[in-house]
Formats: sequence, structure tokens, C-alpha cells
Amino acid sequence: MSKEIYQFEISTYKSESELDQSDRELLTQAHEAASHAYAPYSHFKVGAAVRLNNGVIVTGNNQENAAYPSGLCAERVALFFANSKYPESAPVALAITAISEKTPISEPITPCGSCRQVMAEYEKKGGKDLRVIMRGQEGPVLITHSMKVLLPFSFADDLLLKYISK
Ligand code: THU
Repeated sequence: MSKEIYQFEISTYKSESELDQSDRELLTQAHEAASHAYAPYSHFKVGAAVRLNNGVIVTGNNQENAAYPSGLCAERVALFFANSKYPESAPVALAITAISEKTPISEPITPCGSCRQVMAEYEKKGGKDLRVIMRGQEGPVLITHSMKVLLPFSFADDLLLKYISK
């Protein structure tokens, strides 16, 4: 038996004013997207903005449904649309933020497990590290440089393709 220790790095900023202009712009677009999320059940409005390596920014927000599991998170709405419209472009940064109608969210929103799996696959497909910029409505910002930080040991297509019959 052997044990290995893995380390990862997360950058923390006290507020968005410490960020560079391009990350601030992405958070602004994520916030704007959050403001028109369709979240009549949770009232928790999430916004995501993806920067592609062709310079385009694609946004998305959570879309809920009376049949609860039929809804979709903001991150996946944005990434699925980005890949359907610009399949040749790689996502290089994704900002996530949220608005709660009850109490202002003062801590960073981190993506759910299903979104991490989707983010990891598009990072691999695009061949470029995907920076993730996470903030609540206000307050500190967390930034990770690659999905390897948010989802180490993700299930990936190379393993799948090795074992399934074609
Ligand atoms: N939600 C997202 O949009 N992204 C996440 O990463 C986590 C949760 C949405 C799903 C649901 O509409 C609401 O937030 C409450 O869970």
C-alpha cells in the first residue's frame, strides 16, 4: 500500500475590485444573467458567463421546472449553449454568481457535482485550462486555474472509450 498527497491551489480575493478587468467583466455578465434566471421554486438565481478562446462570452442561468429534476443549472445552460453554437472554441474562463431573493449571498457560489463533470469534459475537449471565478452577490472571490482542482479524478471519455465496444 502507498499513500499519495495531492495539493491544489485556490486564489482568494477580498473583493472583485482586486480582479483584472477581464474577470470583472465576466462576473458582471454572470450577474446580469442571474438577474433573469427562471427560478420560481428555489428563488435562488444563478448566473454563469463563459469566455471562449474566440473572444465570445456566452451566458446562462438556472432554468427550473415544476417537475424538479427537469431543470438545469446555470453553468450547464451556458456551456451546452456555448458548445452547440461554437463547437470549435475552447472555454477558457467561467464566472459563477447568484442572487437570492431572501438574503444577499455574501460567499462564493461553487458549482454542483454534475456541473463540475460537464465543465471538466469541456476543458478536456477544448485542450485549455478552464479558470473558474466564483462569487456570491457580493464579497470574496475564489479563482481556480483548472478543473483538475474542482474535480480531481473525474470520469473521462478516454477511460470510457477504452472499455466500451464501438
Ligand atoms: N444551481 C445552479 O444553477 N448551479 C449550481 O452550481 C448549483 C445550483 C441552481 C439549481 C437550482 O435551480 C437552484 O440553483 C437551487 O439549487
